[in-house]
Amino acid sequence: MSQTITVIRGDGIGPEIMDATLHVLDAMDLGLAYEEADAGLAALEKHGELLPAATLESIRRNKIALKSPLTTPVGEGFSSINVALRRHFDLYANVRPARSYPNTLARFPGDVDVITVRENTEGAYIGEGQSITEDGETATLIQKVTRKGSERIVRYAFELARSTGRKKVTVVHKANILKTTSGLFLKVAREVAGEYPDIECNEMIVDNCCMQLVMRPEQFDIIVTTNLFGDIISDLCAGLIGGLGLIPGANIGHEVAIFEAVHGTAPDIAGQGKANPGALLLGAAQMLDHIGKPDQAERLRKAIVATLEAKDSLTADLGGSGSTMDYARAIASRL
Ligand code: NAI
Repeated sequence: MSQTITVIRGDGIGPEIMDATLHVLDAMDLGLAYEEADAGLAALEKHGELLPAATLESIRRNKIALKSPLTTPVGEGFSSINVALRRHFDLYANVRPARSYPNTLARFPGDVDVITVRENTEGAYIGEGQSITEDGETATLIQKVTRKGSERIVRYAFELARSTGRKKVTVVHKANILKTTSGLFLKVAREVAGEYPDIECNEMIVDNCCMQLVMRPEQFDIIVTTNLFGDIISDLCAGLIGGLGLIPGANIGHEVAIFEAVHGTAPDIAGQGKANPGALLLGAAQMLDHIGKPDQAERLRKAIVATLEAKDSLTADLGGSGSTMDYARAIASRL
């Protein structure tokens, strides 16, 4: 039976990397049907709003979306569309895997295989209490951490470890200074960890974690942390493995899941056929895992690795001279 997914082509390099990704998915003959929906600048131009109700309805109906990056116009009155989507569907778990691939421009060849599990709905990103005094001298912001939010994200990380055969979860925090917010997260994480005696658990303060990631990334398996720390740590991991074109992100809720690349719309290279579609393709692989097609997900990942190994039509960020579509065709030929 065919499964319909919502496809959001997005802004900037979005349409190019989505074309490339759908080319590869079509070559896999998965029985997927696509329902296109608009968001971001493309939606603003067509429908006069950044996140039309029809797009939300399509995602709600299909429960699965594959999304290219979106531009949030800079200026007052526009909150991030990505944050809005995560809030609307309560997509509490942001799962960002980073692993070393062959033939990238990574500074450190090697042994990175870390999944960052980032709390996606609370912390510093709730958008509440943002104020600045009239004289422009003092700014404030509210951070919110709840027991419920902490418990479900930590549990998600441990369940992910169990279901993927991973051995260790590192809880990253700053409870020594942020005693209430990070303190509550750590307290709840310790309680949840006690329910998973089969999975090793350690704790690390976020600044030390950043240094350890650069010095000895092989000690990490799954990292679970709050919203802001997770955002920064996953980009650090992207840097370790050779760039943003290699990291996907799944946004998972109880009902709906949205799969994407971690990078943005790359306006500097948009429309030039230079963008690496790899991160969105890896996001599609996460999607295939999620919809119960892990063999197909592995088939797709293997084809990506084989293409990197062969250095066939790699895009410029990987040191090659292939176009977005050349690279996608090279991957499709190795499925
Ligand atoms: P960016 O990720 O778009 O670009 C940073 C650098 O990485 C640029 O030099 C770009 O050319 C390069 N790059 C990014 N993706 C690439 C790819 N697939 N292949 C090759 N090179 C790639 O970050 P930036 O410039 O900070 O943001 C641009 C726009 O993207 C902003 O409007 C921002 O709001 C939006 N954005 C959207 C996101 C989303 O929809 N999930 C996430 C992050 C940013």
